[in-house]
Amino acid sequence: MSAHVRRETALSAQSPVNIAVLRAMRAEGQRIACLTAYDASFAQVLDAAGVDVVLIGDSLGMVIQGGSTTTPVTLDHIIYHSRCVVPSLQRAFAVADMPFLSYATRSRALDAAQRLMQEGGAAMVKLEGGREQARIVEFLSTRGVPVCAHLGLQPQLIHKMGRFRVQGREAAAADAMRRDARLLEDAGADMLLLECVPAELGASITRAAGVPVIGIGAGGAVDGQILVLQDILGISAQARSGRPPRFVRNFMQGQPGIAPAIEQYVAAVRDGSYPAPEHCF
Ligand code: KIV
Repeated sequence: MSAHVRRETALSAQSPVNIAVLRAMRAEGQRIACLTAYDASFAQVLDAAGVDVVLIGDSLGMVIQGGSTTTPVTLDHIIYHSRCVVPSLQRAFAVADMPFLSYATRSRALDAAQRLMQEGGAAMVKLEGGREQARIVEFLSTRGVPVCAHLGLQPQLIHKMGRFRVQGREAAAADAMRRDARLLEDAGADMLLLECVPAELGASITRAAGVPVIGIGAGGAVDGQILVLQDILGISAQARSGRPPRFVRNFMQGQPGIAPAIEQYVAAVRDGSYPAPEHCF
């Protein structure tokens, strides 16, 4: 089989997505469509609609458990929801969130990652933080754990910050985030996720990166987009903050049902029509 045929196969709509496929998508400029899911029914719909990456996110603390933050979410919660989601995925790549403080020490992080992968079935874990997490990322990565490093707005820090706001607007903060992204990648992060950063900063971190960069409110020049499922279905924003965040688009509008709305989301990420300028900072 020629290299060309192998690459076509890897990127085809049917092949299971893995870390090599995500890297190839970045290299080929094929945008990566990601969404959160927390249960089997939605996982099946997302998988069939062509979503590439499904995140069992600690946003479940808000959209499933009805809380106002993600901090009460435990490792057992994420494992429970991962076990609901992962068996329903035939193609999509499963990423599970490391909950608040579950990676505060190396041994806790290793235990959490082991449980998320072995009991939850995740193929990658995601943790929030910048340079302060580089040693944890390196520790996990050198033990074979694929890690996504979540930079920018870190919802687990809500009680330290007091409110959610765009990160990296000032030049010094943007430079620090660029350096953190580099440090985390050098430490072994296989994917970066940027939340609520100016589009220009998202673009410059993506240009400098050697791994896929996924954005949520990080502009259109990143390698892929992720949103919270309930947000794109228009059923959680009111409950969470009274109005949807700027980067959210309700894909149910004009669609006859949930499956076509998700397909529309995948198509809009792939062709770059989402995010539009009004979704960017
Ligand atoms: O928990 C989550 O769903 C997330 C996404 C918002 C990126 O971290």
